[in-house]
Amino acid sequence: MNKIARLEVDNQTYELPVVEGTEGDKAIDVSRLLSQSGYTTLDSSYANTASCISSIAYIDGDKGILRYRGIDIAELCEKSTFMEVSYLLIYGKLPNSAEFARFKERVHHHSLIHEDMKSFFTSYPGHAHPMAILSAMVCSLSVYHPELLEPNQSPAQRDQTITRLLSKVRVLAAFAYKRSVGEAFVYTRPELDYISNFMHMLFTTPMKQYVPDEKIRKALDVLFIIHADHEQNCSTSTVRMVGSSKANLFASLAAGICALWGPLHGGANQAVIEMLEEIHADGDNYKKYIDKAKDKNDPFKLMGFGHRVYRNYDPRATIIKRYCDDVLNHLGIHDPILDIAKELEHAALTDPYFIERKLYPNVDFYSGIIYRAMKIPTKMFTVMFALGRLPGWIAHWKEMVEDPGMRIARPRQVYNGEVGQAYKPIDQRL
Ligand code: ACO
Repeated sequence: MNKIARLEVDNQTYELPVVEGTEGDKAIDVSRLLSQSGYTTLDSSYANTASCISSIAYIDGDKGILRYRGIDIAELCEKSTFMEVSYLLIYGKLPNSAEFARFKERVHHHSLIHEDMKSFFTSYPGHAHPMAILSAMVCSLSVYHPELLEPNQSPAQRDQTITRLLSKVRVLAAFAYKRSVGEAFVYTRPELDYISNFMHMLFTTPMKQYVPDEKIRKALDVLFIIHADHEQNCSTSTVRMVGSSKANLFASLAAGICALWGPLHGGANQAVIEMLEEIHADGDNYKKYIDKAKDKNDPFKLMGFGHRVYRNYDPRATIIKRYCDDVLNHLGIHDPILDIAKELEHAALTDPYFIERKLYPNVDFYSGIIYRAMKIPTKMFTVMFALGRLPGWIAHWKEMVEDPGMRIARPRQVYNGEVGQAYKPIDQRL
């Protein structure tokens, strides 16, 4: 029997259907409440609002579980690749060998951008933030593919748009990096896999060819897998919100990239390193920063700590911590920033303030340290995250536009402003 929730207000009882997910999520469907009762629901920051029904990723924040299409994140990191996970997220199943070969071929085939676009990059000042360049370039890419902007695309057109973006955003990200360090743009090499190709586009110079390193490739592959999706986070919800107006995928992804940029979201990986550098410059006095984070009159927060959904531990952080140690050992790096990170982590995990509030290191606490070890500039960290998140954003956009019941997203509000104010001519205003 379907469950019903009852809401009593103004001496009236309203029956609201209960929706249950396959993993036992329970939600009260309030979509008809307004027309039935005149009441809306208030949930600032959407802390307890499911904006859609989705079958892409599942998170249990209390147990520290993350699964893509039902498969545990740790198993995917161990056995799969970012390319295969991209297919899984976007198309809903693991590919067989023929499907996977076709997918990789399509992604590879679209790995060039229009030559004219190079001049867009060089028009930016050298100090431009690569996230600004990336979001603008993803939107600009659409002008070269007017045939892919049609809101009611056929499945074949949609696939073309998807594979083009999967491949070309990687090139745009690498070019944004090259612009930020003032080096010549480097084209893809057909014989390299997706990740090694990206590393090659980042690190090959006219003087030196990048030589793929398996340990680094695997660590980056795992980083991209753990970033690939995280259900209705700020940037993914933005992609869905923009896409719900039937805006094309280029525009929806560009909006997602902008949402990711913020330091409370993807920008935290850059903010973590900047914070650790600040502590280092301040004599490694990490205890002072723990106190600042606890002080309600101080806006300082420990970057890389806390998560809206994970209240136990972040399973992605557990995985990436191991790769972080591996990469640093492999490269023989002793980074004083890492020592501070370890001290800070230990101090926070044993401090009642952090324990009571269930504040644990999140994925961004460690990812920045790995990128730094790979010699990726701090300003590029969030671009790396964007590249990893790309298949998740695409999967959510695709799930939404393929839903026959899709409607434009339009939240309500509770108005709390002036009531019936008369217009005063300027000479009568105080
Ligand atoms: N440092 C110090 N105190 C914190 C921190 C932190 N990093 N995070 C949360 N708190 C405190 C809050 O002040 C609040 O305290 P109170 O109960 O005394 O008022 C309590 O812990 C609960 O935190 P909220 O602000 O309610 O948590 P919310 O779910 O709104 O925010 C967020 C989550 C944005 C991740 C927050 O923890 C934060 O700002 N962390 C630092 C930024 C960061 O690392 N972001 C990356 C997130 S992961 C990602 O996007 C990939």
